[in-house]
Amino acid sequence: MCGIVGYVGPRNSINIIVSGLHRLEYRGYDSAGIALCLKNNEKLVLVKTPGKISDLETAISKALPVKDNRTFTLGIGHTRWATHGVPNQVNAHPHLSRSGEFAIVHNGIIENYADLKSRLIKQGYTFKSDTDSEVIAHLIEQCYEGNLKGAVAATMERLEGTYGIAVISSKHPDTIVAARKGSPIAVGICDGETIIASDISAIINYTKQVIFLNDGDIITATASNIDISSVKNIPVSREMTHIDWDIRDIEKGGYEHFMLKEIHEQPLTIANAIRGRLMEAEGTAKLSGMQMDPREMARIDRIAIAACGTSYHAGMVGKYYFEDIAGMSSEIQQAAEFRDRNPIIQRDTCLVAISQSGETADTLAAVREAHQKGATVLGICNVVGSTIAREAGCGVYLHAGPEIGVASTKAFTSQVSVLAMLAIAFARTRRLSVNAGREMIHQLSVMPKIAEQVIAQESIIIKIAEKYAGSRDFFYIGRGYMYPAALEGALKLKEISYIHAEGYHASELKHGPIALLEKNVPVVALVPNVPAKIKTMGNIQECKARNAPVIAIATEGDNDVRSLCDDVIFIPPCDEFLTPIPVTIAEQLLAYHIARIRGCPIDQPRNLAKSVTVE
Ligand code: M6R
Repeated sequence: MCGIVGYVGPRNSINIIVSGLHRLEYRGYDSAGIALCLKNNEKLVLVKTPGKISDLETAISKALPVKDNRTFTLGIGHTRWATHGVPNQVNAHPHLSRSGEFAIVHNGIIENYADLKSRLIKQGYTFKSDTDSEVIAHLIEQCYEGNLKGAVAATMERLEGTYGIAVISSKHPDTIVAARKGSPIAVGICDGETIIASDISAIINYTKQVIFLNDGDIITATASNIDISSVKNIPVSREMTHIDWDIRDIEKGGYEHFMLKEIHEQPLTIANAIRGRLMEAEGTAKLSGMQMDPREMARIDRIAIAACGTSYHAGMVGKYYFEDIAGMSSEIQQAAEFRDRNPIIQRDTCLVAISQSGETADTLAAVREAHQKGATVLGICNVVGSTIAREAGCGVYLHAGPEIGVASTKAFTSQVSVLAMLAIAFARTRRLSVNAGREMIHQLSVMPKIAEQVIAQESIIIKIAEKYAGSRDFFYIGRGYMYPAALEGALKLKEISYIHAEGYHASELKHGPIALLEKNVPVVALVPNVPAKIKTMGNIQECKARNAPVIAIATEGDNDVRSLCDDVIFIPPCDEFLTPIPVTIAEQLLAYHIARIRGCPIDQPRNLAKSVTVE
């Protein structure tokens, strides 16, 4: 979704902001803009455009031709994902105040903007855009009494909703003020310059030392100093976090798309998720971020899981783990529903919140609701320092490195690996024997190798993709652990190829959706060698009887599946509980190549954002 970059320092801020905006492109956006400040009381320069950052670069070079060699040492930039008002130049950020002396960029939603706007209109203000954000610029100007931070604080007191904002003013050509409530702001601390961004991807090229603002914080940043306080002007201190991501992690490294690179990274990212955590001799896993000893774990009676999208599908696998492996009562909720339906949370409940980005608004709301009800909250996140990771109380990082492709791939397999370790650790405080634990830990340790073997099937998967890329509808079916894998396969295909795809429990097809099957509707049947396979084979027969072509994902050497189905992708044999990992990797490759053949914009599909920070 929207992205913010701000710079103050000796260098020309245009280059730093534009390259930061490029780093945020993966989040999804539809317009972009930049506001620059030169010196005291000189008019702010504003350039905005619908479309891509490359369009913004063209607009900047028109507005500021090469012969204009002024060095703008202060500036803010933005990528907008439209909520209020269509994506056009006027609605793009930054927005200026009435006098043009204040410029703001905003992520989030101002819920009381209509009320604020009508009051400002009565006071003589005119609005250029249809956005909820423009009120912020006018309010800051109205509240300004010589102190920019004071004006931002006074404005924050009037805003309802969520925001990450960055503000500059021609009256303060050496200062950026930024603030957050519900939408992230990170501050990169460099030598003699400061970079502010909504996402660390825009910062790590310059520094690995980052401070994350908490809700209600306001930062005043110059090139050499930062000062953080609350809205009530009480100084606060925030810890510095070291980010160990490398700039190469956010580059394509020779792959056509980030998604393909991230699919191929999975042998390594799964290895990173389990590294140092598998205690083979003890038959358990040690997840230090959990901060719970076996006695505390034994006291937890019930696991509630909340997540969205792909993380929700990983959570479904996790629910099965807690039931199957640990024998614990467990439930999974879409995060928004968890909060909306007033769930029953007892003191012995542990909420596991799963989020790759750690910023998903619905999942964050579930975390806060569970805290409110006194539950233990454990976060499983990938992005270090993200809001959910910080608010959860305890948690486990995926260590998968940045996931840039909008379609989540490596995060899923790492989430499943972490959930397996978590369930084994809980199980060992209950009935799981050391020997059974050892066997499971051993099975997990070979997962990187198994992921490699699935990826080695890519040329076969490409041929299958070529055969079915023209289809308009797909079904994915599976049972048990293959049911969440079916949902995930369908989600992957629809979001990047725009083919209508639905995931079903294999048994559910005959309760309605089977009416849609015919020769042009392929069914992806997930039938690795597990006890439920025999029943799914029966469901495949039902599909074949309706002339639907069936693509199976099955265990190597399974001739029954080969002779029944039209096409087969084979995965190596592995223990049932780990089958979601290789099966999902095969699905990711199938979806990727179908989308590539159809010419879809794979890393940034239409209408989607990487990090969904609105509810
Ligand atoms: O960052 P999160 O894991 O909380 O994101 C949740 C979903 O928005 C995300 O998984 C989404 O469904 C992906 N586009 C799926 O590929």
